[in-house]
Amino acid sequence: MSKQQGPMDLRQLRGTVAVVTGAGNHGIGWGLCCHAAGALGMHVIVIDLHEKLVREAESRLRELYPQVLCYGLACDVTEPQQLATVTAAIAELLPDKSIGAVFANAGVIFSHTVLNSTVQEWQTTLQVNVMGVVHTMQAFVPLLQAQEAESIFAATASIGGLVRGDNGGASYQASKHAVVATSEALSFELARKSPHVRVHVLCPCIVASALDKTSVVNQRVRDGESSADEVEALGSDSFRLAMTPERHAEQVFAHIEAGNFYMVTDNVRPYVDHDLPFDGVGIMRERHANMQALTLDNSDAWQRRPGMAPSAIMKGPMFGEPESI
Ligand SMILES: NC(=O)c1ccc[n+]([C@@H]2O[C@H](COP(=O)([O-])OP(=O)(O)OC[C@H]3O[C@@H](n4cnc5c(N)ncnc54)[C@H](O)[C@@H]3O)[C@@H](O)[C@H]2O)c1
Repeated sequence: MSKQQGPMDLRQLRGTVAVVTGAGNHGIGWGLCCHAAGALGMHVIVIDLHEKLVREAESRLRELYPQVLCYGLACDVTEPQQLATVTAAIAELLPDKSIGAVFANAGVIFSHTVLNSTVQEWQTTLQVNVMGVVHTMQAFVPLLQAQEAESIFAATASIGGLVRGDNGGASYQASKHAVVATSEALSFELARKSPHVRVHVLCPCIVASALDKTSVVNQRVRDGESSADEVEALGSDSFRLAMTPERHAEQVFAHIEAGNFYMVTDNVRPYVDHDLPFDGVGIMRERHANMQALTLDNSDAWQRRPGMAPSAIMKGPMFGEPESI
């Protein structure tokens, strides 16, 4: 087995640079930045859409982690030219540092059904979630290949990229399946040629963030309905069974350390303080059993639970207890 797939000693990341896209709000990317800077001693590049968001993230990180260098760079990951500007800026800002990890994490969600999603929602979702990851791969992977040291490229998909299609997340799940397949393809491409570039796909289950709100805010800015200068960093603590972004990041790096390609972060101890996991792997098994039998089990469409839409996904231990939601 190549080094690309085995366990990794995370101590080698100290003093290298972590690049995280979609880290300007208080979600998964922000947690990855904090863990990289605080626990691993990595320098950090925060990338997000708006100058105001990345400036604020940069100054928060500098205050929290004065021992490392932190920079915020505004970039729309759907624009390859902007990513080229970012890689040039990193080379200028940190000329003597190697890149230890790139997290292609920017994303959007519009939770509507196949029939009710607008064409614009489909286009934005595929542009950001799929092409944003592809552009980030094309901008950074050649740099990682050219370095001698080991490095990590991780794309954020979702558990929605591994389980069967469901009620209301049509464009999102389609895009996240594409992220999983693209990450598998990149891993295969590099396995023999550049095994020192370790590829992973991150498949979170439920992490506290404001993804639904940041998606709408960014769409409004794109449509000229509000100004980028007014955008405030958003997070969420409303769902008590969700992982916090900081503890989620601990599990992500534990997966990297263990050499796990599919980084499913399943709301399990010790990363949460409860015993009601999402059970993403269980739902993956159900789907694979369906596939092997060439059938699709839609029986969950008939299930009625108070306060919840029927779902083939939101049904594990986490969703079993009415008071847990
Ligand atoms: N929170 C969860 O439970 C969960 C579960 C599975 C997957 N995810 C994925 O995790 C990733 C991070 O989401 P989050 O939940 O932390 O929410 P978040 O809103 O904190 O992060 C998404 C970020 O992407 C940025 N972004 C959107 N379009 C962009 C673009 N074109 N260029 C640059 N940045 C852009 C947003 O401004 C935002 O900061 C997403 O890819 C999301 O699909 C989240």
